[in-house]
Amino acid sequence: MESDAVEVAPAAEIRGTVRVPGDKSISHRLAMLGGIADGTTTIHNFAESADCQSTLGCLGRLGVKVDRDGSTVTIHGRGLDGLQRPDRELDAGNSGTTVRLMSGIMSGQPFDSTFVGDASLSRRPMRRVMDPLRRFGATLTAQDDNYLPLRIRGGDLTAIDYTLPVASAQVKSAVLLAGVFARGTTIVRESIPSRNHTEVALREFGASVRTAAGTIEVDGGVRLKGGTFTVPGDISSAAFLIAAAATLPGSRLRLVDVGINDSRSGFVSILQEMGARIRVEPKAPARGEPIADIHVEGSELSGMEIAGSWIPNVIDELLVLAVLGTRTREGIRIRDASELRSKESDRIQAAVANLRILGAEVEEFPDGLFVRGQQRLKGGTVKSFDDHRIAMAFAVSGLFAEAPVKILGADCVGISFPGFFRTLAEISS
Ligand code: S3P
Repeated sequence: MESDAVEVAPAAEIRGTVRVPGDKSISHRLAMLGGIADGTTTIHNFAESADCQSTLGCLGRLGVKVDRDGSTVTIHGRGLDGLQRPDRELDAGNSGTTVRLMSGIMSGQPFDSTFVGDASLSRRPMRRVMDPLRRFGATLTAQDDNYLPLRIRGGDLTAIDYTLPVASAQVKSAVLLAGVFARGTTIVRESIPSRNHTEVALREFGASVRTAAGTIEVDGGVRLKGGTFTVPGDISSAAFLIAAAATLPGSRLRLVDVGINDSRSGFVSILQEMGARIRVEPKAPARGEPIADIHVEGSELSGMEIAGSWIPNVIDELLVLAVLGTRTREGIRIRDASELRSKESDRIQAAVANLRILGAEVEEFPDGLFVRGQQRLKGGTVKSFDDHRIAMAFAVSGLFAEAPVKILGADCVGISFPGFFRTLAEISS
């Protein structure tokens, strides 16, 4: 077998207790804010993800000292005005969150910086952050005014009032992070809520942030103060295991200390609405981020349409929901999700191609897909499209297909969940 291919065989059930890796989105934010805060920030259960390693690498280039001891990361903050001119390009690897969020920070620096990334990241749109950051007064240039390399000449920023044209937490966060460096109060307006980890973390670092329905305000020039944090488990990683357990009868899975922030936990609500047996047992929150143990038992699932304001909340879980669609009574219809085409791969095209290889009937739309219910997948060989979430979603399909599903290019799971295949093997039988 190719070294980078993994085969997942049909399983009867999922059983066990799992602690999934720390949340990727939260880890990025705590590391970045730690870098521009005064004092030391200690982050326990920091995500094992390669993407978060890219963020730490970029911070290192900017003169931030980072120590790592197992899953604990210590960031020696340089304060609002202490980052150093990088001696070379900032490599964001595969990570959209690294380049988009950090471009907000770099816009506030009195020096030039340039972001580069891998082939996938180099195909992803950056104009969405360039537009608002230019309005602050920064100068940004990119290939075709949209693609990496992205060069930023930061400077004297003036606060803006910005209405998000796309429901994107990455764009919102880039604006808020630039707002920390700007003169005046920056306002971001969003018509559909997206994940709010930046707002939560800014407040914990002592920033002056106010949130109301659809509006976030941050005052510029307020110094941040480092602290100690524990990152909750990543619900987007847990989602693959939850999906597997929810559909295999006889399964009993417990996931420990998972982040269930309202702006991220739509996946659980959607599955519950589809009849899944999931119990959420809340625990004490960790510095503004709600946490729970999640108990899942296998059952029959009905179908559902997922569209509108659900989409930003479950953007990273849509793939596994599509795969699960084949197991439901009425199928899964996803609409209003054209953003999926701008992720690590064109996730609509990739999911449709792989489902068809496995013999499924799927309809493709510009903004989504329809996967008919009650279909038995036949097994086969699919590609990851170098996209970690495609690899994991189709690993789940192997558990309930008639024959094994082989995933080519499976190593990319390390982008968010390095031990994924080992964990899956341990809990499936
Ligand atoms: C993320 C936001 C989402 C998500 C990505 C992580 C974040 O992207 O898909 O995996 O950490 O802010 P968009 O905000 O671009 O939708």
